[in-house]
Formats: sequence, structure tokens, C-alpha cells
Amino acid sequence: MREMFISIARYAGRYRTTVFLLFGGLILESLYDVGVRYSMKFVIDKAVVEGDMPALMLILAALGVGAVLFNFVVIACDFYWARIGGRIVNDIRLDMFGHLQSLPVGFYRRQSAGDLTARFNADVGQIENGMVLAFPMAMAGLVEIVTTLALMLFVHPILAGIAAVGILFSLMMPRIVQGKALDASFVLRREEGRMMGFLQENLGGQSVIKAYSLENHASKDFSNRLDELLTKLARANFLSYLVSRLPSLTFLMLQLVVLGVGGWLTINGRITVGDLVAYQALLIGLNSAIHNLTWMIPSFIDATAGWQRIREILDEPMGIQDKPGARDLSRFNQAIEVEKVSFRYPTSEIPTLNKVDLKINAGEYVVFVGRSGAGKSSIINLILRFYEVTEGKITVDGQDLRDVTMSSLRSQIGLVSQEITIFDAPVKDNIRLGALDASDDDVIAAAKAAEIHDLIMSLPEGYDTMAGTSGARFSGGERQRIALARALVRKPAILVLDEFSSALDPTTEAEILQTIVKLKGTCTILSVTHRLTMAETADKVVVMRAGRIVELGAHEELISRKGEYSRLWKRAASEEKGGPANEPAPTPGNSGE
Ligand SMILES: Nc1ncnc2c1ncn2[C@@H]1O[C@H](COP(=O)(O)OP(=O)(O)OP(=O)(O)O)[C@@H](O)[C@H]1O
Ligand SMILES: [Mg+2]
Repeated sequence: MREMFISIARYAGRYRTTVFLLFGGLILESLYDVGVRYSMKFVIDKAVVEGDMPALMLILAALGVGAVLFNFVVIACDFYWARIGGRIVNDIRLDMFGHLQSLPVGFYRRQSAGDLTARFNADVGQIENGMVLAFPMAMAGLVEIVTTLALMLFVHPILAGIAAVGILFSLMMPRIVQGKALDASFVLRREEGRMMGFLQENLGGQSVIKAYSLENHASKDFSNRLDELLTKLARANFLSYLVSRLPSLTFLMLQLVVLGVGGWLTINGRITVGDLVAYQALLIGLNSAIHNLTWMIPSFIDATAGWQRIREILDEPMGIQDKPGARDLSRFNQAIEVEKVSFRYPTSEIPTLNKVDLKINAGEYVVFVGRSGAGKSSIINLILRFYEVTEGKITVDGQDLRDVTMSSLRSQIGLVSQEITIFDAPVKDNIRLGALDASDDDVIAAAKAAEIHDLIMSLPEGYDTMAGTSGARFSGGERQRIALARALVRKPAILVLDEFSSALDPTTEAEILQTIVKLKGTCTILSVTHRLTMAETADKVVVMRAGRIVELGAHEELISRKGEYSRLWKRAASEEKGGPANEPAPTPGNSGE
């Protein structure tokens, strides 16, 4: 919990002046409160007992003026605190968001978006509750305890001593269960995050759920998860209540002791009746201060659990960073060389690539083929530097990728993969994401090259047409062409296509392949594919198996070699003959089979 307070204090430190003023306000507020209670002594001893009416009026007047000033201060404090609180929460969200942007692709493969959203919403919300709403209350309680004790000490040290011991004791009590309560709250938060993950998957997967009639199954699953959540919720809440109840119980005992000792002192004439009444009034104040303080502990526990989950994100190691002194890569114009590269995914035990050697000359059209899991996408991931090689090196124009800036590398690459992300924004903006400074003419030129211009123009709103959620306005093939235009508007030196057409039907695919073939010569094209027709026109076909390059050459050459590549062709051809092919329709044609 201490760590959470320190971290949040660091955020609050950005608004130091206001925060100090607020604490000043809090102190004034509690001083007034204590003053009102202690004024009982003067009302009784000076005014009531001595029958002094003017003195009573004077005391009341002083309290009245104080009340007006006091309320003014309180309202001003509330106003500023509300603003600062909002800012702190915003700063935390901003840090989380910024950090999320710098995390590697691998992080997103293992984290559910729903759980991440929960951290932004629910967990930051807990901090807001705990730190922004409950914290001032707790601080006011603390200040009031200190000022009351100081005043008690001034009036009568013995009574003050008893009260101090009692308070210390009642504040220690919650510690017994606090650790358990914190764990329970964290478990609850995690469970809620999982729930959000489940919900998000369910909402995203509605078409599958309907198609397979999984509605009841999903509801049952959800209900089970709710039961699970309920158990955790009940446990966390009970422990939290317990934490806030314990001090009040202890405090009741304290009140009895002070009353006994105070009564005895009054009977013996050591203190006045006014003193005794004022003491009891102060004690009642203390009780409410302790109540304020401890009632907030559950909020702090929840905030701490929320903060732990936020920390998990903030502590997540960043993706690959530029090395100090990294240089910008100038426009690619010679060759990419993969030299003895071995690679293992951080989460995996076995190597994915084994001593791979490959040279790709600028302007070449290179196609990677091979069975699923052969490592084709992995090579591409390494060239994009989504991951760092485990052994060996990759150079671009003779420069090791590790020595150049990531932005200068990526700005030269246009990537189109099978998973296309189209945002619910106008088509032109979706294309412009490839190069934010592209002019409308550039966007149109890219759309023309991707052969989607005519279609866009046929829409009532042309380039201003909204794409719909996830690009729902467009067909699969059209989405791929928009994604291609997005890659082309970058004017990429290297165009990377990772199975970008595998979700399309053969006719649409054949059409889009022709578009790609037309791009030959304008940039270097690296294409990973299961569609062997793409390999026919390639300058170089890279055939992979089990993390190695087993064959390398042009289509004709590889066919005549009668190795892996020719086997892949035979298989594709026979699949086409036998029944309805779900593989592409490569016609062996000139393959010499
Ligand atoms: N993020 C990852 N973490 C751990 N292992 C991975 C990861 N991605 C891929 N692998 C493993 O690496 C191997 C090669 O995967 P890769 O994606 O490169 O294959 P691929 O040739 O592109 O296959 P496909 O044609 O199915 O796309 C596979 O065995 C796969 O299980
Ligand atoms: Mg792949």
C-alpha cells in the first residue's frame, strides 16, 4: 500500500502548489472542527457557570464568523481537489496508454484486450475512488486526530496519553486482516479483468456463436464465471468491512476508559466540569475522525489492488528500443542480407529458425512458401524487427538492423497481413494512416495502384464514405485493397505481404494478385503465401521447411529440381482435382508436370 501512496504522491507532485494549498485548507478545516468542540469548555466554565451573557455572545459570534470562513475554505478545497483528482487520473491513463504503444507485438498476443480495457476503466476507477475521493477525507481525519491530541495534551497530559495509546491501538487493529483483504481485492480485480476479456471475446465472436448455436453454452459459461466472481467479491468485501470495523470497536473501549478517568479527575477537583465535557466532545470528534480514516481503508485497499494491476502494465518491459547512437537507415537500394540467423520466440523452448542465409536484392519480387509452421512469418517478423534475432544478423544495405533506428526502417516498409484493421473512419483517412502527411492526391494515387479507386468513386460519398466498424462496409477483397493502398501510400521501399490474400476466394485473389504483379519493379516485394500461383512470376522463391530454407530459386528452376517445391505443386494440383478445393487453384500449367 505504501508503494501505491508514494507513486500517487509522485503524480500529485506535478501539481505541488495546489496540493500544498489543499493541505493547508484541510488543516484549517480540522482546526475549526477541534475549536468548536473545545469551545464547550468556555461555554460551560466561563459563560454558563458564571452566568456571563456577553461572554456567551462573544463565543457564539467567534464561532459564527469561523463557520462562514470555514465553509468558504471547504468549498474552495473541494473545487480544486476535484480538478487535481481528475488530472492525476488522466496522467495515469496517459502513462498507461503511452506505455502500451511501446510494447512489443508479442505482448498483445498474450493479453486480452478486454482485460486491458478493465485496467483502464475499473482499476483506474479504483484509484480515483481511493485517492481522489477518499484520500482527502482520510487526511482530514488524520489532521484532526493530531490536532485533537495536541490540544488534549495541552489541557491534561494523562488523559491525552490514554487517548494516544487507545488511538494507536485502534489504528493498528486493521493490520491484522489488511494483508488478506488486499490479496482478496487483487484477486477480485483480476477476476473482473478476465470477465471483461471473456465478454469482449463473446461480443466479438457473435457470428461464430450464432452459427454453432452456442448461445446457451455461452450463457452457462458466463453464469459460472459470475458465480466464481461472486465468491471472490463476497470474500473481498467482507474482509474490507472487517478492516474498517475493527478500529471502531477498540475505540468504544477507549471512550469508556477516558470517561472513567475523567470523571474521577473531576470529582477530585483536578479538572473542571467544562474540561470533562470538552474532553468528551473532543473524543467524539476523535471517534468520527478515526471513523473517517478507517472507513476509507477499504477504498485504499481497492486502490492498491487497482494500482498493482496498473503497475503490471507500466512495468511490462518495452519492446525493442533504438540502441544509443542508432543511425537512420537511408532509403533501401542494395540488398537485405540474412546471415546465419537463428531465432527462438521468447516464450518458446525450441528454435523457430535455424541458421538461415538469404539475400534479397533491392527491387526483387520474393515469394516465401512452405508448410504451415515452417517459419515464413518469423523471417518477416525479424526483417520488420518485431523481434530481435537470437543468433546471426540481418543487414539492410550493409547496416545491421540493430544499429539503425526503428522509425527509419519501418517508415520504408508497407505491411499487409491477413488480419486487416480498418477503422470506422472515412476511407481516405483509413488509407492515409499509411502516411499521415500524404496529400489527397497521394491517397488517390495509392488507391489507383491498389485498384480500388474506381470502386471508391462509385460510392455515393466517394472517399468520404465511412468504413463502418472493422470496415464492415466493405467486402473482404475490398478491405484487402484498402489495406494495400494504405501500405502503398507510404511509398514503401519494401512491400511485405503476409498471406494477405489467403482469406479471399480464388477469383478475387487472382485479381488482386494481378495488381501485385503490376507493382513489380516499383519496390521490393516480400510475399509469404500458400498460393503457389504467386510464386510463378517471382524473381526468387524461398522454400522453407522446419525453420530452414530448403530450396531457393526461380519457379521453373525449382520445378525441374523435383524437390520440396515441386512436391508442393503436385499436392496443390491434386487437391484441386479431388473434390471442392479449399486450397487455391494453382494450375500446374507450365510447371512441366
Ligand atoms: N509468438 C510466437 N511465440 C512462440 N512461438 C511462435 C510464435 N509465433 C510462431 N511461433 C512458432 O514458430 C514456428 C513458425 O511459425 P511461423 O508463424 O513463422 O510459421 P509460418 O511458416 O508463417 O506458418 P503459417 O503458414 O501457418 O503462417 C511455429 O512452430 C509456431 O508455433
Ligand atoms: Mg505465417
